[in-house]
Amino acid sequence: MQGRIVPANAEWIAEAGQMIRSGALVAFATETVYGLGADATNGEAVARIFEAKGRPTFNPLIVHVLGLEQALVIGTFLPMARRLIEAFWPGPLTLVVPRTPTCDVSDLVSAGLPTIALRSPHHPVARALLSESQRPIAAPSANRSGHVSATSAEHVAEDIGNKAALILDAGPTTLGLESTVVRIVDETPVLLRPGAVTAEAIEEVVGGRISRQGEAGAQITSPGQLASHYAPRARLRLNAYDWRPDEAVLAFGAIAERPARAFINLSASGDLIEAAANLFAALRTLDSSGALSIAATPIPPSGLGEAINDRLRRAAAPRGSAFA
Ligand code: TXA
Ligand code: MG
Repeated sequence: MQGRIVPANAEWIAEAGQMIRSGALVAFATETVYGLGADATNGEAVARIFEAKGRPTFNPLIVHVLGLEQALVIGTFLPMARRLIEAFWPGPLTLVVPRTPTCDVSDLVSAGLPTIALRSPHHPVARALLSESQRPIAAPSANRSGHVSATSAEHVAEDIGNKAALILDAGPTTLGLESTVVRIVDETPVLLRPGAVTAEAIEEVVGGRISRQGEAGAQITSPGQLASHYAPRARLRLNAYDWRPDEAVLAFGAIAERPARAFINLSASGDLIEAAANLFAALRTLDSSGALSIAATPIPPSGLGEAINDRLRRAAAPRGSAFA
């Protein structure tokens, strides 16, 4: 069953919808490129996406929704964002907006950021899968990290075939280029990634030139650097084997709980998927304990451990340092 390429007909899409609901990964066609999808509200399913892609860091993922109604539960849309949605949804435009306070999408999808990327695809298979699963679906391009995006079921199978429970084959994608990503958190929209919707088409709707990522005035730089923005207020001490009672503790594996300001074990059984799913929420909770220091016990360096350690090193880096 693993990595099985199946025709994207009604029966298989219904099956795939059930698989998404049960936490499995399903690769599916969109109008841009194939996506590797998981239930966005299931942290462990989302962690499996990072594992499947072999991503050494947690880049934030795009959440796919049927339309504005579903999107409003997850994100906050300024009038300018709504105008763009009216013009380009469903279609290859992704909007990065603030998460709503009640958003139930896993923190791992946003890589701990207060924002979330949303898009409503118009490909009928993507839409049918969203309907069947009744879940928002987090899906990056279905390629291994560092490879080009997959535009056919065969490419998906070559790259990450054994990681998806099912690959819904709907033939080659029509656009073959990823969606355009625009960030709208204030009055200055920023083009984070050029894509299938041209900047000119977006400028026509927003009524002026749109700032490009990295330009003066556009504060937001590359997503990789963005991911380093969320750092706890508390100092983070890595590879700690011991702690003071006034410290908060981020544990992993068979670590006995001893007096501490707050104590969270990312995975008592030593499961890196479970740990990745819990990471960002745990950092937030420990930070809000008021402790001045968080002691993190060692996490193995392999598999998803590489991404978890990367994230922890960023969070531990001295404030204001440019962490490449
Ligand atoms: O066409 C597409 O967009 C495809 C299909 C499957 O929908 N998906 C895709 O996903 O290309 P991915 O994960 O390969 O690219 C997502 C992009 C990355 O550049 C990521 O950094 C950015 O969106 N992104 C996601 N959430 C973000 C956030 N909160 N802030 C800034 N950038 C974000
Ligand atoms: Mg990609």
